[in-house]
Amino acid sequence: MKMSGNTLLITGGASGIGLALAERFLNEGNEVIICGRRESKLQEAKERFPSLHTKVCDVSMEESRVELVKWVTERFPKLNVIVNNAGIQQRVNLLHMHEEWQYYEKELMSNVSAPIHLTSLLIPHFVQQERAAVINVTSGLSLTPGAWVPIYSATKAALRSFTISLRHQLEETNTEVIEILPPAVNTDLGGPGLHTFGAPLDDFADSIFEELKKGKIEIGYGDSAKRLQASKEEIEKATAQAWNGFLKNNPEF
Ligand SMILES: NC(=O)c1ccc[n+]([C@@H]2O[C@H](COP(=O)([O-])OP(=O)(O)OC[C@H]3O[C@@H](n4cnc5c(N)ncnc54)[C@H](OP(=O)(O)O)[C@@H]3O)[C@@H](O)[C@H]2O)c1
Repeated sequence: MKMSGNTLLITGGASGIGLALAERFLNEGNEVIICGRRESKLQEAKERFPSLHTKVCDVSMEESRVELVKWVTERFPKLNVIVNNAGIQQRVNLLHMHEEWQYYEKELMSNVSAPIHLTSLLIPHFVQQERAAVINVTSGLSLTPGAWVPIYSATKAALRSFTISLRHQLEETNTEVIEILPPAVNTDLGGPGLHTFGAPLDDFADSIFEELKKGKIEIGYGDSAKRLQASKEEIEKATAQAWNGFLKNNPEF
């Protein structure tokens, strides 16, 4: 994609991967709007990067997505890129599902309904721009499910599938469709401390940005880049190994 002169909306851009990408896009001369549920995190991000624009928004709620798109396209009529990055991850033991269904459904609404709905709301606006892009943040777990996060893994496989279909449907338009598949990265995903074993955030974001500059449309890093090339047998082996490793480290699960 062309890396400067864009106006981007990054969902979940106040922390982690979203903020790391926001910083890099700002440095390349882009207008960047970030949204998230916690006003305090948006404020912190704005203090670090005063040129960021911020908007409180819960993308898991339909009316909030409609309001966000109305707000952003009215204020920033040149909006031409969405980074569907907001996401949550929950460990779920399928033998002991004691929460109300709403608790589990939240993962589907945040990780699947939100990016699909936001994309569909923005396509009519994007096709009017000179050029545009939809960037979906899926996961290495869309390729090799993490059995301890079964709903999360299913949401990421769903978003990956949607991204492929979207790319086909928009092939003849001005709108590029890009997928970023992070491996484990050291952020607060799932709660503070759960991803400290992951890749350093800045190394990951620098590499993703370089690949974007090269025009790549399916971008992994480390393990997830390898898994994009893996055979069915390798995928099954990696999935089983990861599950056994998780059980060993989390015997109480
Ligand atoms: N870190 C990893 O290991 C890893 C691996 C693969 C894929 N990913 C994906 O990368 C993306 C970013 O995650 P991250 O690792 O950077 O974790 P993170 O630091 O927890 O970032 C997630 C961001 O999304 C926002 N968010 C969550 N639910 C939202 C909602 N309903 N509406 C608006 N914003 C919402 C959060 O802000 P608020 O809480 O303030 O709303 C937060 O800023 C996610 O899609 C995740 O699945 C991460």
